[in-house]
Amino acid sequence: MVPLKRRKVSASDSAGKTGNNPGEKTPTRFPGVVLFLLEKKMGASRRAFLSQLGLKKGFQVEDVFSERVTHIVSENNSGHEVRTWLNSQDVGRAATAAAARLLDVSWYTESMRAGRPVDVLDRHKLQEQQADEADVVSFSLPSYACQRRTTLDNHNAAITDALSLLAENAELSEDDGRGVAFRRAAAVLKALPAAVTSTRQLRGLPGLGEHSLRVIGDILENGASTEVESTRRSERYKALKILTGIFGVGAKTADRWIRDGIHDLQRLRESGQTLNRAQQAGLDHYDDLHQPVTRAEADAIGEIVQRAVTSASPGARITMTGGFRRGKPTGHDVDFLITDPEEGNEEGLMPKVVSWLESQGFLLYQKTSRNSYLESNEGPGRPSSNMDRFERCLSIFKLTRKEHRAGADGPEPGPGSQAENPPTRRWRAVRVDLVVSPVSQFAFALLGWTGSKLFERELRRWAGHEKAMSLSSHALYDNKQSRYLRASSEEEIFHLLGLEFVAPSERNA
Ligand code: CTP
Ligand code: MN
Ligand code: MN
Repeated sequence: MVPLKRRKVSASDSAGKTGNNPGEKTPTRFPGVVLFLLEKKMGASRRAFLSQLGLKKGFQVEDVFSERVTHIVSENNSGHEVRTWLNSQDVGRAATAAAARLLDVSWYTESMRAGRPVDVLDRHKLQEQQADEADVVSFSLPSYACQRRTTLDNHNAAITDALSLLAENAELSEDDGRGVAFRRAAAVLKALPAAVTSTRQLRGLPGLGEHSLRVIGDILENGASTEVESTRRSERYKALKILTGIFGVGAKTADRWIRDGIHDLQRLRESGQTLNRAQQAGLDHYDDLHQPVTRAEADAIGEIVQRAVTSASPGARITMTGGFRRGKPTGHDVDFLITDPEEGNEEGLMPKVVSWLESQGFLLYQKTSRNSYLESNEGPGRPSSNMDRFERCLSIFKLTRKEHRAGADGPEPGPGSQAENPPTRRWRAVRVDLVVSPVSQFAFALLGWTGSKLFERELRRWAGHEKAMSLSSHALYDNKQSRYLRASSEEEIFHLLGLEFVAPSERNA
């Protein structure tokens, strides 16, 4: 920004220089009107002629474009063409784009005839399409995803998909810093109220580094980013994606296998690698676990889980968390939080729930880990740690068709069905996460398990950096007061953090 004083000086300077021939200069008669004639299409000689005419009649006609210009006059140009030219000028681009009028030469010639600037009528104005207007509107957003409302309607899916792929690739290569950077950039684009058409609109937005901006620019200009497309096609990325797509397989294991020449499921099966129980189940149910889980299937599983929980403790209740609580129509799994209104009753609940489910034949796989959270041992805790220490069960459910589609899924296999025509399977495998929380920690657990993962990360970053607090799925600790802050609802937690409440459906960052 040029300081006001300097701008005034340079303004009068350039007014003094107006016109090509100082000898012919007439004092300005209309001080609020600063004209600029666009040479494009008008041509240099006609422009010089019209300029001289204007100067003689006492108009300010600028030779050089500046932010003082109030009326831009052109001939045979569309509004879009003039706007594009304007945007290519560095001088006071934003201010000018917003303030100066784009006029047809007819306004100028009529004003010459009248000896004064005539009223600007609609027919004098260059028509600008809506898209051109939107083009110069910049977006603005608060820095932290937890200060924003991010619903599922994403106006920039092509860009956010591309940035998410780069994030995923970084995470698979165990470059978490880069992964988070791309996730943050994607989250910013998800939160915009409209589609981006130019990187100029993104100036001043948080979370967009040079790298992300380059990717976005490529997509806007060429329809795709070469970096994203070459990553997507790379053998390493494809192999990592397939192998870590097996439940129980992380980036480290996948990397080791790839170095042993294992790039796909068939090679893995043939390799004789020792798989742990989770990985074996993941491999056995690979196709099912890659089928999105529908809301109807999630609800059917919810009913089963509620029955299991009720049989273990009649007062206990379940809440569906994760993506479904945020309103997603499908998910990669179903997440449930279990609690009992009677504090202490939740102890020993998980083993009973699991053994009920097992006895009914609902579990294809399960692994339960014990609750290891003890507030007295925790202290201020590890604020950035994503892991909580609730009693939890990672499982694979066997959902029969009756339970998830009420038998309405094509013909049942008849008694005479052909051997080479395998009978329609009557069940599918679904990943299910169960977590048990004491009711005193329920609000924190609910907030922590609703996601999205980036939203959670941003909440913890906000708490730590802006409030000197440590947030986990168990508690909120105030580092300045050296004490825990209690809350019995998500609303209270947002309030304690000094944030406006963000509804689950707005946490899709
Ligand atoms: N979560 C967690 N600790 C884990 C795994 C998950 O706290 N070890 C939390 C995540 O922070 C997230 C929520 O559980 O908020 C749900 O995680 P997940 O099921 O992986 O993702 P969803 O958002 O439910 O997405 P999807 O629909 O693909 O399941
Ligand atoms: Mn989930
Ligand atoms: Mn989950």
